[in-house]
Amino acid sequence: MAYQGSLTSVQAWQDLQQHHQDIRDQHMRDWFAKDPQRFERFHVEAAGLTLDYSKNRINQHTVQLLLELAQQRGLPGAIRNLFQGEHVNRSEDRPALHTALRNFSEREILVNDVNIMPEVRHTVHRMEEFCWKIRRNQWRGYDNRPFTDVVSIGIGGSFLGPKLASSALKPYWDSGLNIHYLANIDGSHITEILKRLDPATTLFIVQSKSFGTQETLKNATACRRWFLDNGGSEQDLSRHFTAVSANVQKATEFGIAEENIFPMWDWVGGRYSLWSAMGLPLALAIGIDNFRDLLRGAYAMDEHFRTAPLAENMPVIMALLGLWYVNFFGVNSHAILPYDHYLRSLPAHLQQLDMESNGKSITLDGNQVDYHTGPIIWGGVGTNGQHAFHQLLHQGTHFSPCDFIVPMCSHNPIDNFHAMLVSNCLSQSQALLQGKSEQEAIEELIASGMSKAEALVLAPQKVIPGNRPSNTLYFPKATPHTVGSLIALYEHKVAAQGMLWGVNSFDQWGVELGKQLGNRVLSALEGETIADDIDGSTNGLIRAFHKMQQQ
Ligand code: F6P
Repeated sequence: MAYQGSLTSVQAWQDLQQHHQDIRDQHMRDWFAKDPQRFERFHVEAAGLTLDYSKNRINQHTVQLLLELAQQRGLPGAIRNLFQGEHVNRSEDRPALHTALRNFSEREILVNDVNIMPEVRHTVHRMEEFCWKIRRNQWRGYDNRPFTDVVSIGIGGSFLGPKLASSALKPYWDSGLNIHYLANIDGSHITEILKRLDPATTLFIVQSKSFGTQETLKNATACRRWFLDNGGSEQDLSRHFTAVSANVQKATEFGIAEENIFPMWDWVGGRYSLWSAMGLPLALAIGIDNFRDLLRGAYAMDEHFRTAPLAENMPVIMALLGLWYVNFFGVNSHAILPYDHYLRSLPAHLQQLDMESNGKSITLDGNQVDYHTGPIIWGGVGTNGQHAFHQLLHQGTHFSPCDFIVPMCSHNPIDNFHAMLVSNCLSQSQALLQGKSEQEAIEELIASGMSKAEALVLAPQKVIPGNRPSNTLYFPKATPHTVGSLIALYEHKVAAQGMLWGVNSFDQWGVELGKQLGNRVLSALEGETIADDIDGSTNGLIRAFHKMQQQ
């Protein structure tokens, strides 16, 4: 049973507070100078990934106290509950069993006393058949030409994970199909996608767990209209429109043939759904064997998370380090910095994964937390970020722990590009660690020919405090297996943090309010009259919309 009650009353929490006082002014640079074994001591391997966490504001005592906190919070039990299908999503009274989607073991997984594994495997088999037919041109468009384009229509978790994995695995796209992701409700986005396409060779996949999401339904309706207006007929719809949804009734009402609907289940959260048929556009691009390798990578990380002792458990270590900064250093953000063009969508996916999961302030017991929870997740691809926001990382008043993520080998080894890319990655975390003292700055300026007096004036601008923490996650290459384990690693990190903070990482009630108010504002934007029940600012903006629409 997971620990219930206040996190801050746990003994290890009190000990960590004291410990933070003891070490907060110590510099990592000194720790590295004293301990040549620091890298050896603070790194861990799992499922094809290695995490170097030696550049963190920790010593062995910190790790020990953090592990005690995890024990005292009942983390091992909470992990067991997750995998065993307990109703960890309490507010919706359901389990969170995305791990079942990549369960390659013989273990049964029960939901309401029914083993869900046969249905999970049957769905992968259906995906396989579907991919086979489309990729081998057995299933063609209405004028018998093979499909050239697939438009995935979905948003949030029904978009970000598949999009990330599709771009991460671009080197494995071997079908010649172009995959497009249509998410936003923005006339410009849909126009830009559709204007390049031929309806006769375009396949649509409407991806919505609920089949009730405004943006997705509007986009799907517009795509259907475009299809019918540009040569497709009502009879052709079933050849060109498929869906992935847990709401078969709504999908069929929309006009998708029942045999073209792939299932989703309420025991899979949207942001954890890449591994289900929501991954269909990806599977079409890379083939089902590569898709299965992605699942295997995630499964390897699941097994690690489920069975490794806490002290060697990569997601747990990352979770505890994150908590250390949020709760004891008062940090409120965390940067994701992939040094790989193919992983450029990772920050956006992790933003949803983390912020929709742990952006919570009420505990599972229904109490207001008296500590901070999930940080703001942001980031971008290196080296581009170095010429944009890294300045703040080095010298700003805020400090944001960073995850540097880097494959050691490139899919496209040209000249010494990759060595240059990796050298940038390593030297950024090095710079964050060691910084530059005033004395070093003065000596550097004098060595460059400046007078001592001038150097003394300029040097403070050049001081870089350092002591800024980062993780480096590395692996040989971004393959389906490593991408699968990487994404699963973050899923488990987020889940472990949710368990420690005692919040429900699997619901998202905050998103609902925006949806409700959105409908009210839409009717005001489309109506002539301004509603009295809308606040003055929003009313002013609605009037501006009316006025500018008429110009
Ligand atoms: O953004 C809120 C959200 O509910 C996500 O959790 C979900 O992934 C997304 O909307 C899309 O929902 P659906 O798949 O039901 O269209």
